[in-house]
Amino acid sequence: MPLLQAPFLFKITMIQEMNKIIQTKDGSHSLISGKFEESYHSKHGAIQETQTVFIDAGLKYKSEFSKELEILGIGFGTGLNAFMTYLESKKEGLKVEYTGVEAYPIDLGTAAELNYPAELNAGTERDIFLSMHGSENKTLQISSEFKFCKRVCLFEDLKYKENFDIIYFDAFAPEAQPELWGEEMLNRMYRFLKPGGVLTTYCAKGVVKRCLKSAGFVTEALPGPIGKREMTRAIKAPK
Ligand SMILES: C[S@@+](CC[C@H](N)C(=O)[O-])C[C@H]1O[C@@H](n2cnc3c(N)ncnc32)[C@H](O)[C@@H]1O
Repeated sequence: MPLLQAPFLFKITMIQEMNKIIQTKDGSHSLISGKFEESYHSKHGAIQETQTVFIDAGLKYKSEFSKELEILGIGFGTGLNAFMTYLESKKEGLKVEYTGVEAYPIDLGTAAELNYPAELNAGTERDIFLSMHGSENKTLQISSEFKFCKRVCLFEDLKYKENFDIIYFDAFAPEAQPELWGEEMLNRMYRFLKPGGVLTTYCAKGVVKRCLKSAGFVTEALPGPIGKREMTRAIKAPK
């Protein structure tokens, strides 16, 4: 007889893979992934990290060139990047089509416990935050200026589309997910961008920057969010 029977093994796997909510230093929540045993955000502050890496270095930078933007978020996760992009684009009058790709979506109950709407003084937009979590593989017209789609699949399997102005590359760290940070996937991200498109990531590792360069990107080291000296912005040269 097997030592542990199938239902028990299933239960243990489920418990191991459960995410845990934590509070980061700026007061905003994050998750510890049961599957990857990694934090979804910097422990120095989830909101401040998203603000620096994705909103300031990606969205605000690119919106100086165009007010209509297509954005791909690799790792939808807690939805923080998508929600802050929605709030910023509303404030700045941008027209945005946002695609978030997520292989392992969190459940709606966990999403409902996250304090982002309150921490961002956007409690009245909480339903929008939850609607992003509640939808899968269909386009939501969140407002007249903001379209959103959460694609539930591996980035590796996302259907190729050469349309994006911005990629927020927000997978777990290279040590946890080496398959996403090597040349093959960075080449794929390069192809997903329009000429002049920009990829931002919290990662500033030399090996990743070298792979970005060999994919064709021009890379810049920018000051990182609190707790991190540098981050990376990579640009696909305009034609
Ligand atoms: C560092 S977390 C950040 C998520 C998100 N940006 C946020 O603010 O919560 C990385 C996310 O990427 C997702 N992920 C990991 N591997 C993936 C893959 N191959 N394709 C798509 N999503 C993936 C994880 O499930 C997780 O939600």
